[in-house]
Amino acid sequence: MSAAALNTQFGIEGQLSFREDASGLVVAEINNAQGRASLCLQGAHLMSWQPASQAVPVVWLSRDAKMAAGKSIRGGAPVCWPWFGAHATESSFPGHGYARTVPWQVIESGSEPNGATRLTLRLVVSDKTRAQWPHDCNLDLTVIVGETLRMEMTTENTGANDFVIGEALHTYLQIGDIGAVRVTGLEGCEYWDKVGGSNLRRQDGAIGFAGETDRVYINSGAECVIEDDKLKRRIHIAKSGSLSTVVWTPWTEKANKMGDMGQPDGWREMVCVESANALDNLVTVAAGARHTLIVEYGAVSF
Ligand code: BG6
Repeated sequence: MSAAALNTQFGIEGQLSFREDASGLVVAEINNAQGRASLCLQGAHLMSWQPASQAVPVVWLSRDAKMAAGKSIRGGAPVCWPWFGAHATESSFPGHGYARTVPWQVIESGSEPNGATRLTLRLVVSDKTRAQWPHDCNLDLTVIVGETLRMEMTTENTGANDFVIGEALHTYLQIGDIGAVRVTGLEGCEYWDKVGGSNLRRQDGAIGFAGETDRVYINSGAECVIEDDKLKRRIHIAKSGSLSTVVWTPWTEKANKMGDMGQPDGWREMVCVESANALDNLVTVAAGARHTLIVEYGAVSF
């Protein structure tokens, strides 16, 4: 559907409009009294979010982010689904699944009673997606943009057999400097430490950063808070339907290799705190059933 047709069917005067990017991809722009956000229809990829109360965006987008058909965008909130990380058996299948690089279609939009703006997209099933995931299902993502950002990802099993998924809302959060933040909420949790092998460890106190960090915390649905001493704010990440939290920063060497993190040190201004179901927490969705992962982000200055 063209941006013009989307504006006619789903646009909301003064709140929601659609435009075509130079790359040809369609982007939804949400702008209301409480905040603003943009979302690329490819991948249902939320690219930015800034509540009106904050001078600096809360969701980070790399200054070197590239928009191209079939490619993931660096930053924002990539949708990882129906597996997280590498595919269990097929090394040629894309890391973090295909949902973030395929077309999605808009199925609904509206205004919430509190003035926030709602937009729902559904992944478009194709021969390409079926070749990697043969199950009958719907994957919907609803974003509600206001003073908080709420994301709801629902997997519906429309087939006759149960299936298992891994998933994440892989959010990149904007921070002042990686050396000046800590993440609380995961004290005492077990995590798989993916740096230097894969070892199960237990978190002692708040998480601080002094090098590459790539961890999957398991068996916890706790709210996480990013305490940012430089921007003087806290980012709250509250969730349901998610028992894993991925905490990731690439640090210098890996960021340099990635090439789209915003050279030379854009990576220092982001940290990923991802609400997931991964490793020990994969989800079985029974035939005819639904599973929903919900995350709500908020920012408070101090
Ligand atoms: C994190 C993973 O979720 O995503 C990391 O834990 C990975 O291992 C990172 O490097 C970025 O992945 P990608 O595929 O977007 O470059």
